[in-house]
Amino acid sequence: MFRRLPDELLTSAPAVTILIDGRPFAARAGDSVAAALLASGRPACRTTAASGDPRGPFCMMGVCFDCLVVIDGRANQQGCLVAVAEGMEVETQKGARDSGIRRRT
Ligand code: FES
Repeated sequence: MFRRLPDELLTSAPAVTILIDGRPFAARAGDSVAAALLASGRPACRTTAASGDPRGPFCMMGVCFDCLVVIDGRANQQGCLVAVAEGMEVETQKGARDSGIRRRT
């Protein structure tokens, strides 16, 4: 569905190395995390809490929440709204993650 433009059509954006599930990937400066995940060949970046089905970036503009990932240890980050940064660690989000919000019982 999504594919990068050929290198000769792109500007000379410098490479930014990020880790995706522990493996290095050369993203481009200015890429969103979701764009980098798609460029790396990963169509899914999370699994659903209910069924475990894979989900991947869809809207690329902060509406669908199908791009949730763990970024530098913080869960529930919308990958399409976060720009890559050198050394950033991105992990596939599996099911529901702890939001950090505690409910009173
Ligand atoms: S791709 Fe839809 S919110 Fe990120």
